[in-house]
Amino acid sequence: MSGATLRPVRREDLPLLYVNHDLDPVDSFGWMAANAMERAFAANGLLDYDHGTLIIQDADGAVAGKISWRPVPHGPTVPSHALNIGTRLLPGFRGRGLGTVGKQLLATYLFETTTFERLQAETDIDNTPAQRSLEKAGFSREGIARHAQFRRGTYHDLVVFSRLRGDAP
Ligand SMILES: CC(C)(COP(=O)(O)OP(=O)(O)OC[C@H]1O[C@@H](n2cnc3c(N)ncnc32)[C@H](O)[C@@H]1OP(=O)(O)O)[C@@H](O)C(=O)NCCC(=O)NCCS
Repeated sequence: MSGATLRPVRREDLPLLYVNHDLDPVDSFGWMAANAMERAFAANGLLDYDHGTLIIQDADGAVAGKISWRPVPHGPTVPSHALNIGTRLLPGFRGRGLGTVGKQLLATYLFETTTFERLQAETDIDNTPAQRSLEKAGFSREGIARHAQFRRGTYHDLVVFSRLRGDAP
């Protein structure tokens, strides 16, 4: 048991959430502004009903990483929107199930506090830990979105996963 818990982001967490474009093979979309997290936090505490970020803590209360969600449209009206979730643990906290339990906890939270029917996640076709983590968190593999993501000068295929409100956890 990982002992993972979720909690809202605090101002002192913000430096830990910054992503270094040069060092991160997954989030290498380009440099983010040094104050990007500060501005987003000032706007809404990174915690809107349909777009937010929570901290994943380990059993000792240490900040292990973050888990986020944002709406993605599959049609023009709100019932046709899904919530796309993304998880990012700090390097020293990976491989202990914290991200997997974080996804399970977030799914429970989002199904309890919103009316969204579909959670989805997309991950690089080469990101085996992320795919395994999603499967363990009750997400079903749906297929491949070809060349959906552009990072470091190359298009990457993504594997698409979903978990529906009625799916077994
Ligand atoms: C992906 C991530 C969220 C998974 O969370 P986690 O808590 O580390 O996941 P788990 O500890 O449950 O491990 C998931 C699975 O990956 C496996 N795994 C770990 N490292 C691996 C590796 N290098 N190669 C293959 N499999 C690996 C684990 O063995 C585990 O599978 P198992 O339980 O069947 O043995 C986390 O590792 C992370 O933040 N990675 C960096 C950022 C990232 O890739 N985010 C996802 C972007 S879409």
